[in-house]
Amino acid sequence: MRKKIVAGNWKMNKNFQEGVELAMSIQQRLNNYDGNCLVVLIPPFVHITKIRELIHHPKIKVGGQNCHDKPSGAYTGEVSAEMLNSAGADYVIIGHSERRQYYGETNQLCYAKINQALDNKLIPIYCVGETLEERKMNLTFRVIEQQMREGVLGLDGEDFKNIVIAYEPVWAIGTGLNATKEQAQEVHAFIRQQIENQYSREIAQDTTILYGGSCKPTNAVELFSQPDVDGGLIGGASLNTDDFVNIILANQ
Ligand code: 13P
Repeated sequence: MRKKIVAGNWKMNKNFQEGVELAMSIQQRLNNYDGNCLVVLIPPFVHITKIRELIHHPKIKVGGQNCHDKPSGAYTGEVSAEMLNSAGADYVIIGHSERRQYYGETNQLCYAKINQALDNKLIPIYCVGETLEERKMNLTFRVIEQQMREGVLGLDGEDFKNIVIAYEPVWAIGTGLNATKEQAQEVHAFIRQQIENQYSREIAQDTTILYGGSCKPTNAVELFSQPDVDGGLIGGASLNTDDFVNIILANQ
């Protein structure tokens, strides 16, 4: 059975004190939670150690929003996968569309980062997704196929078993305009098929594929009810305890 996950990508929001407070209030609200959804809090780097220290809930993990593609060295301002692991992270987002768009990250760079993450026992959450223009031009599947092939499908099957995929249509991120459940399901099924073609049906069936892009308590139930949607990567709504917890509860 593949894992169900709801991950909160805080992006560049919440100062240290606010972040610790948010993590604590989420933990408290999940005190009696015994569902089967894993929760991943993904705050800015500087919050990770403290939040990790304060989390004692078996269902809550912590992750980083990015890591460097090299193990160490003269890369001022960067953070390595090993540093994240040693600070208490279990997960790391790779290839978020904001990193692709603002920092020029390519599929090839993502592949190098994913390898760093895996070498350092982090579970990469690899993000793929088309822009509005690409969707309008009917290029969605072509774009996703290439992001998958170049970014992650070069791994061997054993390594791929540790990958989580997030489908985040760029046009749905932060816009309030989520993909419909049909649109999400269609792309998730396509991604799962790519994985099956490259590896095996078993590996494809075991891969967790998250949806991200204006996911809220009001649309989470229907999105998560789709057979190939295994949870969500949540931006804005992960900054509010009630909204985030309600999204977690929607992932049955
Ligand atoms: P929103 O939920 O704010 O649309 O952001 C989604 C996202 O980018 C998560 O990584």
